[in-house]
Amino acid sequence: MEAISIGLLGLGTVGTGVVKIIEDHQDKLMHQIGCPIKINKVLVKDLTKERAVKIAPEMLTTNAKDVIDNPEIDVIIEVMGGVDETRNYLLQALKNKKHVVTANKDLMALYGSELLSVAIENSCDLFYEASVAGGIPILRSLVDGLSSDHITKMMGIVNGTTNFILTKMTKQGSAYEEVLKEAQRLGYAETDPTSDVEGLDAARKMVILATLGFSMKIDLDDVRVQGITNISEEDLQYAKQLGYTMKLIGMAQIEDDKVEVSVQPTLLGETHPLAAVNNEYNAVYVYGEAVGETMFYGPGAGSLPTATSIVSDLVVVLKNLVLGVNGKSIISPQFEKRMKEPNE
Ligand code: NAP
Ligand code: HSE
Repeated sequence: MEAISIGLLGLGTVGTGVVKIIEDHQDKLMHQIGCPIKINKVLVKDLTKERAVKIAPEMLTTNAKDVIDNPEIDVIIEVMGGVDETRNYLLQALKNKKHVVTANKDLMALYGSELLSVAIENSCDLFYEASVAGGIPILRSLVDGLSSDHITKMMGIVNGTTNFILTKMTKQGSAYEEVLKEAQRLGYAETDPTSDVEGLDAARKMVILATLGFSMKIDLDDVRVQGITNISEEDLQYAKQLGYTMKLIGMAQIEDDKVEVSVQPTLLGETHPLAAVNNEYNAVYVYGEAVGETMFYGPGAGSLPTATSIVSDLVVVLKNLVLGVNGKSIISPQFEKRMKEPNE
């Protein structure tokens, strides 16, 4: 079978991981989908930048049309981030009948239902496993593994950067600014880390989890959000002396068809399982009426873990392509429930 042609939007921390996995796992991928994967074009901002992977200069472009309007490309992997420009690119790509895999929680939390509708209209797949909890396959677990149950609550650590910062400040007494810089150097933080430290990144992820878990439309503006910028090293040391650990906890719960979603720093007893989730790792508890309590744990940020989720989504797109069922396995929640009003 002919090679499947891929276009990449972005070649930073995550895009580099995607290229590495496609190259290093070529045999395994070929075995699963029955044909090679070829990266055709890659959109970047700066053509002169040194890249962490070998890439032929003619494959790089600064013109998005070379990727989204390219008739040779079957699937677009979006790892450039941002909202408005990226939304337009992906809408155009879907209208051009290209399947899309994205790691972009900002975009999916705000425009996920619009993009999914356009994907369905065009018989395209749109998958976004990497948008929540990096390398943990939490979205597929919600919509496939736990599909027969009523999910009542989800709670956990869904931002790697803030967990890395809180861990280092608590365990090593490191200074906030210094650890934030380390998280940026390691590729965990967003381009603008404000969304990490102020809790917005976690809020967007909780919106995606709640939308899928509770089958309802969640408005990001209705999420109560508090980040970690007001927490001092002294607060953390004091908590530690009293037997507590501070974590940034995302929570989404549903009762009588009303939903509450929040993100806030929370003191946990040292023996709580989430207190043992350190550095860039994430963990999410999912409670179902029938299944009871389940817990998902793994790396929540970083190049290769995130790229693993992306390339696994790509494998599903390509298997669907072989079976001719693209656009059929998209999650389309019935938005019949509503958010709890602040005074309810
Ligand atoms: P990054 O390292 O900053 O890389 C972004 C890439 O996109 C760069 O290659 C950049 O080009 C390119 N780019 C950005 N804006 C562009 C524009 N307007 N036009 C053309 N190219 C543009 O970001 P990242 O950490 O890989 O994250 C990418 C996405 O994955 C984001 O949506 C992020 O939220 C999500 N994500 C990240 C992680 C993680 O651990 N980092 C985990 C899960 C999800 P240049 O290289 O030329 O600058
Ligand atoms: N900045 C994000 C985090 C990347 O730290 O969790 C993974 O989504």
